[in-house]
Amino acid sequence: MHKKSFHLILTTLLILSLVVLAGCGTTTPTTSAPAGGTAASTPEKILKVGSDIAYAPFEFMDEKQNPVGFDIDLMNAIAKDMGYKAQFETSPFDGLNLSLASGKYDAVISAMTITPERAKVVLFSDKYFLATQYIAVKKGSVIKTAADLKGKRVGVQAATTGQYAMDKMGVTTKKYDTTPDAMTDLVNGGLDAVVADSPVILYFINKQPNANIVALQGDFEKEFYGIAMKLDNKALAEKLNASLKKLISNGEYAKIYKKWFNADPPSLA
Ligand code: ARG
Repeated sequence: MHKKSFHLILTTLLILSLVVLAGCGTTTPTTSAPAGGTAASTPEKILKVGSDIAYAPFEFMDEKQNPVGFDIDLMNAIAKDMGYKAQFETSPFDGLNLSLASGKYDAVISAMTITPERAKVVLFSDKYFLATQYIAVKKGSVIKTAADLKGKRVGVQAATTGQYAMDKMGVTTKKYDTTPDAMTDLVNGGLDAVVADSPVILYFINKQPNANIVALQGDFEKEFYGIAMKLDNKALAEKLNASLKKLISNGEYAKIYKKWFNADPPSLA
């Protein structure tokens, strides 16, 4: 072989390998750019979502430990519309907003009621759900109204609007890390009542008719849920609200609502 052509082959090989290496660099689909920020256009943008995934039918784990529920479907649809893929992580409810503020999550969806106190530490999306507090008691309980709760053993999930409603009424509560823990205690006779979001209590009664639990409507305030974002992440909030609006007007939201609540969604005004 000629020395010259040998050189040519070597040079060609070198160029080829450089091209291959360069190609590798541009197709690696990882990004840690913050959502809503000035993220470069990368193939898969991940939206890190925190939630207390123990609140059926909004968020709970299926038999395979995959998150499912109304919030999960809605968040997946919103993320998809924004060009992201939602990645869920379960975490205790009372620490979600702190984790959000520290940058651990891009968003929190957790059947979280928009309250003025919370709105000081997180940026809420537009309302996406209407609920109120209900009282779960055993069938035949002496508790018939919210006024009967005083002096009874009342369970709530810590740092939820159920707890705050009881605090406001001056009712002492036993605080649980999760609502299912409180419901289990009620079923087992360790509590006289549980105060939690209306759809959660109704779903429980529907799924566990043999538990002999009934729901009482107090005279509690209307509550609207919002998706929480970092206080300064206006860019993400804008995108997210636009997608939410779109899903509400194109019927996708109603489809998800129907799937979990077997009814048409009420007006969110
Ligand atoms: N809506 C109530 C609140 O904001 C309860 C939410 C609890 N959510 C949950 N995933 N455990 O306080």
